Amino acid sequence: MNKELSVLNSKINVFLHGGDYNPDQWLNYPEILKEDVRLMKLANCNCVTINIFGWSAIEPEEGNYTFEWLDKIMNDMVANNIHVILATPSGARPAWMSEKYPEVLRVSSDRGKNLHGQRHNHCFTSPVYRKKTYEINKLLAERYKDHPALIMWHISNEYSGECHCELCQEAFRNWLKKKYDNNLDKLNEAWWTGFWSHKLTNWSQIESPSEKGEKFVHGHNLDWQRFVTDQTIDFYKNEILPIRTITPNIPVTTNFMGSYPHMGLYIGFDCWKFAEEVDVVSWDSYPAWHNNFESTYDLAVNVSFVHDIYRSLKGGQPFLIMENTPSLVNWQDVNKLKRPGMHLLSSMQGLAHGADSILYFQWRKGRGASEKFHGAVVDHSGQENTRVFREVSEVGEVLKKLQEIQGSIKESEVAIIYDVENRWAIDDAQCLKKENKEHEGYRQVDRKRYEETCQKAYKAFWNRGVSADVINMDCDFSKYKLVVAPMLYMVRPKVADRINEFVKQGGTLVTTYFSGIVDENDLCFLGGFPGPLREVTGIWAEEIDSLYENEVNYIELKGSKIDSLKESYEVKDYCDLIHAETAEVLGVYKNDFYANMPALTVNNYGKGKAYYIAARTGEDFNNDFYSKLIDDLNIKSVIDGKLPKGVTAQMRSNKDNKYIFVMNFTEEEKKISLGETIYIDMLSGEALSKEIHMDKYGVKILKE
Ligand code: GLA
Ligand code: ZN
Repeated sequence: MNKELSVLNSKINVFLHGGDYNPDQWLNYPEILKEDVRLMKLANCNCVTINIFGWSAIEPEEGNYTFEWLDKIMNDMVANNIHVILATPSGARPAWMSEKYPEVLRVSSDRGKNLHGQRHNHCFTSPVYRKKTYEINKLLAERYKDHPALIMWHISNEYSGECHCELCQEAFRNWLKKKYDNNLDKLNEAWWTGFWSHKLTNWSQIESPSEKGEKFVHGHNLDWQRFVTDQTIDFYKNEILPIRTITPNIPVTTNFMGSYPHMGLYIGFDCWKFAEEVDVVSWDSYPAWHNNFESTYDLAVNVSFVHDIYRSLKGGQPFLIMENTPSLVNWQDVNKLKRPGMHLLSSMQGLAHGADSILYFQWRKGRGASEKFHGAVVDHSGQENTRVFREVSEVGEVLKKLQEIQGSIKESEVAIIYDVENRWAIDDAQCLKKENKEHEGYRQVDRKRYEETCQKAYKAFWNRGVSADVINMDCDFSKYKLVVAPMLYMVRPKVADRINEFVKQGGTLVTTYFSGIVDENDLCFLGGFPGPLREVTGIWAEEIDSLYENEVNYIELKGSKIDSLKESYEVKDYCDLIHAETAEVLGVYKNDFYANMPALTVNNYGKGKAYYIAARTGEDFNNDFYSKLIDDLNIKSVIDGKLPKGVTAQMRSNKDNKYIFVMNFTEEEKKISLGETIYIDMLSGEALSKEIHMDKYGVKILKE
């Protein structure tokens, strides 16, 4: 087995199954803690994450430590062959700390200081909070360093948010001084402060962005988000300092936030930067299965896309699903139960994309407070005879049967660029149109549907059972045959050179409207768009038109050299008015004053090609166009032959074997043709070939 990329330490070679266990809430219920162990074994759980919010249970008063309960849990776990991912408790702190050291409290962008309460509400700069987290982490590491239950550290919980206190303002100014070499002129240029007389004459005039103050200077907003990323990472590095020293061989992770319904990926900080500092990537996956605004199939594509981001963060290394719900959550607009079968299917989807665990929030529903109705393996009824418990146990059984897959990898010849800084800049840009007005005020609103546009391109590959990585613009392109970069609005330094080199060497690039517009400071490129991508694409983008929701135009491909495409495709939202310079025109607009102007071009560049799609295309175009590229470039699909709509196939492999996950994300039965290859169904042991039938939400794991 290929263990080099395996995420776990040498103690572990199984898929982890289990999750957030909060014995600290149940210390007055010893019989329940005992029962938990029995139920964990019944549910085929082999791993718990503990102490995530345990601070007041291990340090109820300053300097008074009560680790005994945690010792007992650690010992009970090891006695029952259950691994522990031990958390550092900084996600929430005891009340005594906020009371005694108010500087730990977070200040919001309106400059109001928070009161004690909730969680994830601390200042990332506060020397006191850093000292306190360092001290408690050191004690934890010293106490459990040789404990046989400990397999990994779970640092804090879902780092997020920002603090605008005076300490953070000072840290921001220092960060800027360093970035701009102590030269305020450089900062004024990067922020374009001639605008509205915003020129700064002293560093002390700089404040973090605020609705009460500055928020229209894009370079300022970007730098603040970069600072927040760096400050969060810096805080995290302080947390892991004692852990690295005392337990150098225990891997460290922190759970990143995944996707939110309506709101897209959580993008408060740049996870690509953060990932460099963790040993193992993990994320919390909470899709709104069975909602009434998208099909199961569409949602599944988006979830796959997010899994592929997290796999790509560390160059394809398997990741962990640190949290998901075994049934429902308690915070969506409508909290639907996972329909029978969906739990197994969505768990296998995670595995198919490279996850080495299925961990839950939460093991047992609490009795009180805001998460008491959030789904859990064990309900308030407290026993195993529930639908959810049975489905969880089944997933545990399946994971055992699939054990040999753990640590294997997923390879891709295609990459989609989805870049966090690009996303920030696109959301901030005041132009084109505001497409998504929901939840204004949240940064993560996908205002110009950048994320959605990337996911729609990705979908064409998912449909064909073609594996894709989801990378940012700084990743290595050389290992791919095809790089798709929708709406590459920001082009950071050296990116264009790397793209040029990739295409010159024979790679294929696809980019679209609204690309090559600004540099890393959100300053527009002068001299014609797509700026530094003009040479490789061979086009000049002169203007861009926005269309109302009910307006459409068409790309006409009549007489073009692209066979297998239809003659005409509808386009919506945006039409870039471009001129072909060295590029060949493959399609033109049908309507409006720009009828007959190029709408789809290709430029031969070195040994490769660069396509430019000038307008927002729909699913029909994307499927046909990317299918053609898949065929032209000889890109491998997991299964030969066409997959029915809503079904995908994804593959993991190691040096000995290929493992194919076939998944039906529809409410209907589907037939899949397997060709002549003979596969073993890893769950039933049957030999399969030619054609298989899959039930609604069916999943099969095939070994070639
Ligand atoms: C997050 C948190 C958990 C819990 C879940 C509920 O992912 O990390 O502590 O609140 O959400 O869905
Ligand atoms: Zn602060």
